[in-house]
Amino acid sequence: MIKIRQENIDDYEEVYNVIKTAFETAEHSDGNEHNLVVALRKSDNFIPKLSLVAVKDNKIVGYILFTKIKIGEYEEIALAPLGVLPEYQNQGIGSELIKEGHKLAKDLGYHYSVVLGDDKYYTKFGYIPAIKYGIKAPFEVPDENFMAIKLNNTDTEVRGIVKYAKEFGI
Ligand SMILES: CC(C)(COP(=O)(O)OP(=O)(O)OC[C@H]1O[C@@H](n2cnc3c(N)ncnc32)[C@H](O)[C@@H]1OP(=O)(O)O)[C@@H](O)C(=O)NCCC(=O)NCCS
Repeated sequence: MIKIRQENIDDYEEVYNVIKTAFETAEHSDGNEHNLVVALRKSDNFIPKLSLVAVKDNKIVGYILFTKIKIGEYEEIALAPLGVLPEYQNQGIGSELIKEGHKLAKDLGYHYSVVLGDDKYYTKFGYIPAIKYGIKAPFEVPDENFMAIKLNNTDTEVRGIVKYAKEFGI
């Protein structure tokens, strides 16, 4: 049984190790994702309700974070990072973290989530190239790797260039 819940202060050290370990074997990594989480928690862009851990066998085995971004004038969210301990991968834990995060984000009123990553993975959850919504990355990236998902059926026209939290260093 996997339990997904909001991260709390007592989880910080375990989350640090989960993210560090998950990204050690990742295809794309700058080797700094665990430190990015530490920095983002202190940022105004941090959303405690969208900092989620997956618990299995009484330990934290996965983590996901969505932080505030600007798309044009709108406040929306970006998914980063997501990590699952190698020995717990391919058991659906990443999927559960993403789906629960989207559900909570929708309830909080966000319209869109963006992600930079593997299109083969994120398209499973409804992400499409962000450019199809008129949402643009603030850096050069192949269209298929910069994705967005519409979280609700609003007609709100959210368009423009994404501005990340300064902690991303973008
Ligand atoms: C990416 C990651 C979070 C996925 O977590 P997970 O718990 O293994 O994912 P799930 O078990 O929910 O996988 C769901 C599906 O995606 C597939 N999948 C997993 N990783 C994938 C990848 N890198 N590329 C394409 N497909 C992938 C699985 O095979 C599975 O397919 P299925 O539903 O058809 O069976 C995990 O592999 C990880 O921590 N990787 C290292 C860190 C990383 O790269 N994070 C993402 C940054 S963009």
